Amino acid sequence: MGDVTTDTGPYTALLPDTQLPEGGRRICLRENGEAVALFRWEGRVYALSNRCVHRGGSIGDGALANGVITCPMHDWEFRISDGRCVDNPEFALKTYPLVVQDNMIKVRFEDT
Ligand code: FES
Repeated sequence: MGDVTTDTGPYTALLPDTQLPEGGRRICLRENGEAVALFRWEGRVYALSNRCVHRGGSIGDGALANGVITCPMHDWEFRISDGRCVDNPEFALKTYPLVVQDNMIKVRFEDT
């Protein structure tokens, strides 16, 4: 892992693109210890906070179906496309912009 800079701002390389197959997910740790859940669904890659907004469940350990991830702790469901809770849209997981570049998934965080 390491920080990189692109034309659109600073991005952090989290994972080789080849390590995230279609329908898969990976939990990656940033250097500051924050966990980020990466998903590939229907050809697109998404990056969300791995910490559930309810009580901190590990989102990346949930079941993924039809673009919806189910938190393993209390079964709240979130759309991976925008992080919104399906039943309570006022709740949302943090989402992060990303690029796939040089075979790496690179995520932009607000604090970098
Ligand atoms: S911690 Fe995720 S639903 Fe409760």
